[in-house]
Amino acid sequence: MDKLIVNGGIDLDGSVDISGAKNAVLPLMAATLLAGGEHKITRVPDLKDTRTFLRLLEMLGAKSTFNNGELLVDSSNINSVEAPYELVKTMRASFYVMGPLLGRFGEARVSLPGGCAWGPRPVDYHLKGFEKLGAEVILEDGYIIARAKKLKGAEIHFDIPSVGATANIAMAAVMAEGKTKITNAAIEPHIVQLCEVLNQMGARIEGIGTSILTINGIDQLSPLNVETIPDMIEAGTFLMAGATLGNITLNKVDPSHLNVVIRKLKQAGCELVIEDDSISIHKCKELLPVDMTTDVHPGFPTDLQAQWVALMSVANGSSHITDMIYHDRFAHVPELIRLGADITLNKNMALVKGPKKLKGAQVMSTDIRASASLLIAALMAEGKSEISRIYHIDRGYEKIEEKFKLLGAEIRREKE
Ligand code: UD1
Repeated sequence: MDKLIVNGGIDLDGSVDISGAKNAVLPLMAATLLAGGEHKITRVPDLKDTRTFLRLLEMLGAKSTFNNGELLVDSSNINSVEAPYELVKTMRASFYVMGPLLGRFGEARVSLPGGCAWGPRPVDYHLKGFEKLGAEVILEDGYIIARAKKLKGAEIHFDIPSVGATANIAMAAVMAEGKTKITNAAIEPHIVQLCEVLNQMGARIEGIGTSILTINGIDQLSPLNVETIPDMIEAGTFLMAGATLGNITLNKVDPSHLNVVIRKLKQAGCELVIEDDSISIHKCKELLPVDMTTDVHPGFPTDLQAQWVALMSVANGSSHITDMIYHDRFAHVPELIRLGADITLNKNMALVKGPKKLKGAQVMSTDIRASASLLIAALMAEGKSEISRIYHIDRGYEKIEEKFKLLGAEIRREKE
């Protein structure tokens, strides 16, 4: 296992290129199961999760090559419909193969994802959706098995606009017989991209980017060819580091995905310059406390909540940070307290009392975004920090320490 050693309190200066989005590329990789032939995805971030997903595709019978961010997948000879426990337990996004396998082959057997570091993450919407499409869904030996001779279009409503369920159901429904209507669908940028790509493959989805998706099923799709959208969560993470430390420019971003984050940073007193595909941030003179509640897009993403908590711990006053998507997603809090933050948790709300002078300490990563929050805090803290179990950050951030080093941070990776 690797750990990161960070010498904090050093200003950041320079520019960094944002990678393709993890949350976008995984469903795109799943979509390659929908059609035989050679699929091409560019701007694929080289992450532990992309490598895991590739392994999964290969276990299903796909052939692939992955070089310099270009991924070629040939799914002509899929010979298994099973996503095994060993992979699903390390990456819940493996569940994304269920929809396409069921849609194309009429059967899927996927290990039921367990809980995760921040509590239960149910998949009941996915399963109810498959049932509505006419599949028989059973749980056997820890595996969800879904079968249908031919899926049939249906009306499916989500009580909460779920990103995962929208993607999974859309991928199943594109090859169903007749019309499917998904109401209260997610509208996150990665869902928009997935639906656009499905249409490029020949699917007939209307209402993309709205909460009502209408899908007219077709019999066959052709291979996809797409460039992954920029990672708004990676970009948001760098912006939050820049808020107190930087004079940094992020290139190859899509600022329109980050409207709410930019607005919150401005409220906190940060100066930002927004161009078509770049964002610059200058260190705040005085960082003000700003309350934040996560929400589905276009609200503040839950994937940036932990980083916001870290930033607010040095703001000049108290703030309330509430996670409405995942109520227990606060594993970073006790670790941030080790670095000197003053945070009290009350259910799904963190009361962060600033300003605190953070001091380097040994801390432990618990999940991808919690690790990013610890990294921001360690960069802001005076002195040396050690962040252990850094494999979490490698799941979702491409070359994170190299990118921060380019900006002048003192950070290195060591074996634990
Ligand atoms: C979440 C993020 C998504 C990100 C992904 C990976 C949101 C809304 N979603 O997606 O942007 O790509 O993490 O980090 O920020 N729910 C159910 N039953 C289900 C599915 C979801 O009750 O079957 C609930 C969840 O508990 C949650 C809400 O719906 O409260 C939204 O969940 P969903 O968007 O599906 O979460 P992820 O797919 O994990």
